[in-house]
Amino acid sequence: MRTTHAILTIVAVLSISCRRETREPLAGEVPSSHAERVRRGEYLAMVGGCNDCHTPGGMYGAADLSRRLSGSELGWQGPWGTSYPSNLTPHMETGIGRYSEDDIVKTLRTGKRPDGRPLLPPMPWPHYGNMSDADVYALAAYLKSLPPIEHRAPASLPPGQAGPPSLVFPAPPAWDVPRGAGVGGGPPPP
Ligand code: HEC
Repeated sequence: MRTTHAILTIVAVLSISCRRETREPLAGEVPSSHAERVRRGEYLAMVGGCNDCHTPGGMYGAADLSRRLSGSELGWQGPWGTSYPSNLTPHMETGIGRYSEDDIVKTLRTGKRPDGRPLLPPMPWPHYGNMSDADVYALAAYLKSLPPIEHRAPASLPPGQAGPPSLVFPAPPAWDVPRGAGVGGGPPPP
């Protein structure tokens, strides 16, 4: 019993001392060439769930990767109004072609677009913003490498206005109301 306890304590101490406190990448994580950065970015976009929201069909379990990340017309309606996942391909007029890699990184880190408009929920930027510099720049390089697709996602709507097809979120149940400091870009629920 005592041995088990000692082992558990050692494991706990080790895992605390291994915890990453900074955004420095772990050894072996830094892609060296542009092609490797793009590959790493594609991997991060896949496991980070970007396709779920930003690729047509993603929320129906069948993301159409031939139109990957070209935005969605399925709205998310909640206390923040209705938001539509943007076209993340580098199309100049309808996508984020005018954003530099730095602009993309800043948007993911601050939750604000280059023109100052905040990112509405459910875009989970507070989590993505914690990626290491190497990872977040790899993600930006990947987005810049996508084939540009012309598709304008619907503009977001203020609370109370009904838009095209939307997932409707009711006011949160009591348990889900934020109680302390947390992450999230939206206004507090009514
Ligand atoms: C749960 C759904 C969801 C997921 C997952 C998600 N997004 Fe978003 N994203 C959105 C929505 C909705 C918007 C539009 C928000 C608004 O209208 O302000 C958005 C906006 C953005 C924008 C702003 C583009 C512009 O319009 O200027 C960027 C950049 C972005 N997302 C990148 C990503 C990346 C990269 C990932 C994956 C690592 C990701 N998103 C995952 C829902 C999501």
